[in-house]
Amino acid sequence: MTSDGRTVVVTGANGNVGAPLVDALAETDATVRAAVYGDRQEFEAEVETVHFDFDASETWGPAFDGADSLFVLRPPHISRVEESINPAVDAAIDAGVDHIVTLSVMGAGKNGFLPHRRIEKHIEATEAKWTHIRPGFYMQNLSGTHRAGIREYDEVIVPAGNGAANWVDTRDIGELAAAVLAKGPEVHHRQVYEPTGPEALDYHYVADVLSDVLDRDIEYNRPGLIRYIRHMRRDTDSKMGLILVSCLLHTIVRLGRSERITDDVRRVLGRPPRDLKTFVQDYAEVWAA
Ligand SMILES: NC(=O)c1ccc[n+]([C@@H]2O[C@H](COP(=O)([O-])OP(=O)(O)OC[C@H]3O[C@@H](n4cnc5c(N)ncnc54)[C@H](OP(=O)(O)O)[C@@H]3O)[C@@H](O)[C@H]2O)c1
Repeated sequence: MTSDGRTVVVTGANGNVGAPLVDALAETDATVRAAVYGDRQEFEAEVETVHFDFDASETWGPAFDGADSLFVLRPPHISRVEESINPAVDAAIDAGVDHIVTLSVMGAGKNGFLPHRRIEKHIEATEAKWTHIRPGFYMQNLSGTHRAGIREYDEVIVPAGNGAANWVDTRDIGELAAAVLAKGPEVHHRQVYEPTGPEALDYHYVADVLSDVLDRDIEYNRPGLIRYIRHMRRDTDSKMGLILVSCLLHTIVRLGRSERITDDVRRVLGRPPRDLKTFVQDYAEVWAA
């Protein structure tokens, strides 16, 4: 990977996408600054870390000082982006950042009410150069939000009916974002990438892969919304607002609207995306009974 040695600030650096992004970017000539909200993780020695909070403007200056590029990840609980994320973007541009890469969501281009799209539009209206990454459905939902049902009840408890999703591994999203940030705006300005996995798969298939790799029976019984909400309230620490967003996302899957597959991972990284079986093998210990 070539690079002009840009200094890149990565928000959400501890998260599903941010962590592999930081690791991949550390392999390039870029100077990587991990903007961390919660506890600091162990990054590679050459990675700078700085405390960062979209809701605390006093943390923005130290994060953006001397930076060339910014990766903007909207933490799932922040919906009023006009009060936090968009002003932070403006502060980054004032500090000299000239390339902003957003982590958005597939379909955002047609949904102006989505917080992701409101961030994208704000950035497009600035003088900065931009690249939008709009991924499909994360495989890591299975190791995160839906881990409890699989681990404790041997069941994938999601209200998705027979719908299929275009499962993408967040490691592929992070590596794609790192390639974009390392090459910079000369190559990627005004580009939109929609990383997905290699195929759209329903939850019956997901349960079969989990059963096969974990060597125990994992079921998928097409639970309805009420059962899903009860399970999430009882067995996870998810907030009600995020549970309702998840209900909406799974209704979209149920209606067959999350099936579109792209070739964007291969187009940017020159290799195919990871498949679901590889993901389950790599994360198997997460669901150990
Ligand atoms: N789940 C899906 O299938 C899917 C699909 C497409 C798009 N998306 C979008 O992807 C994004 C989530 O990505 P992800 O899964 O990588 O995120 P994630 O793992 O949930 O991580 C969220 C990150 O936000 C940081 N954070 C929390 N509050 C913050 C604050 N006030 N200021 C700054 N940072 C803060 C956290 O920092 P600490 O770890 O330091 O606490 C964490 O690193 C969302 O915008 C979501 O809509 C999700």
